[in-house]
Amino acid sequence: MAAFHQRVFSGMQPTSTLHLGNYLGALTNWVAMQETHDCIYCVVDMHAITQGLDVWGGPTELRRATREVAAAYIAAGVDPKRSIIFNQSQVAGHAELAWVFNTVARLGWLNRMTQFKEKAGKDRENASVGLYDYPVLMAADILLYKATHVPVGEDQKQHLELARDIAQKFNNDFGAEIAERGLATGDLGFFPLPEPMIQGPAPRVMSLRDGTKKMSKSDPSDYSRINLTDDAETIAQKVRKAKTDPEALPSEEKGLEGRPEAENLVGIYAGLSGSDKAAVLAQFGGGQFSAFKSALVDLAVDRLAPIAGEMRRLLADVSHVDAILHEGADRARAIAEPVMADVKDIIGFVRR
Ligand code: TYM
Repeated sequence: MAAFHQRVFSGMQPTSTLHLGNYLGALTNWVAMQETHDCIYCVVDMHAITQGLDVWGGPTELRRATREVAAAYIAAGVDPKRSIIFNQSQVAGHAELAWVFNTVARLGWLNRMTQFKEKAGKDRENASVGLYDYPVLMAADILLYKATHVPVGEDQKQHLELARDIAQKFNNDFGAEIAERGLATGDLGFFPLPEPMIQGPAPRVMSLRDGTKKMSKSDPSDYSRINLTDDAETIAQKVRKAKTDPEALPSEEKGLEGRPEAENLVGIYAGLSGSDKAAVLAQFGGGQFSAFKSALVDLAVDRLAPIAGEMRRLLADVSHVDAILHEGADRARAIAEPVMADVKDIIGFVRR
């Protein structure tokens, strides 16, 4: 039976510095998936510019952050020889396919996107058209490579559902053309329906100051998150100051219900140690928070401080990082171009 080639695609925006949520929700899974899949990891600079200039910080900051995010991928364990690492704007197919998908996606679908509502806030009239269209570009990112698996944090689930809807509608709308040209994979269609891979004990890391809010770059308090560039002392301080409640840790997972801060820290410990919440509670349940926090400080420093060190080392030679991005873009283009050529034929665009 015909099946799509198993390919992973995922990306992160170069807006300010990556944090523990990006690391545990996505990056650790990216590293693991290199063992089983062909992987493409993108620095999505075209997504970064969809918010106001005050958010992405302008050209100098965008260049800095693009290189920093690429360095973070490598420092965390993405191997640029095995996997493809590149920045989105170097491969023109992302914008080209997004335009085609703009005509496939329906306004009603985009109107349901909760992340647009959150990011646009009250002043929706003043949000950029790009911010509204963001999920369509994301669908293009994935489908330009016919990627089958997309490792992301929980907050991207709705965007992945939209990507599947777009793939399905394209397959249906152009079914006859696709079949006539022999461009379907078996009876599955031209595009695969990409699977979200939302995995591990920390698919949604919460703020260290408020266990009901997602850890994010936009939180004004730096104590709400651990940045991948934080040094050992800063990491330790942030964990020690993290909000907790007065109870001891439970011995079983159901005891974490209604205790968002405790649940978050246990999830973080599980994510950093490569275990699960049940195993962490079996070890620390019944004990005081202070003992657990000391262990978490040691673990977090042990796992994260070397990443910051490796990032600093990589960023000391920007031309090396740029060379990796160029080479990655060449390899990405080699996969994307035949797909885009087929899309053009399917649509009826005359080409050379
Ligand atoms: P971005 O840059 O907001 O986040 C990058 C990745 O980190 C995950 N993440 C989290 N996971 C757990 N807990 C958190 N607090 C947390 N915060 C962020 C996100 O889920 C994401 O996996 N739209 C994407 C970028 C993108 C993309 C793509 C992803 C563009 N095109 C194609 C996959 C495929 C985004 O905003 O990521």
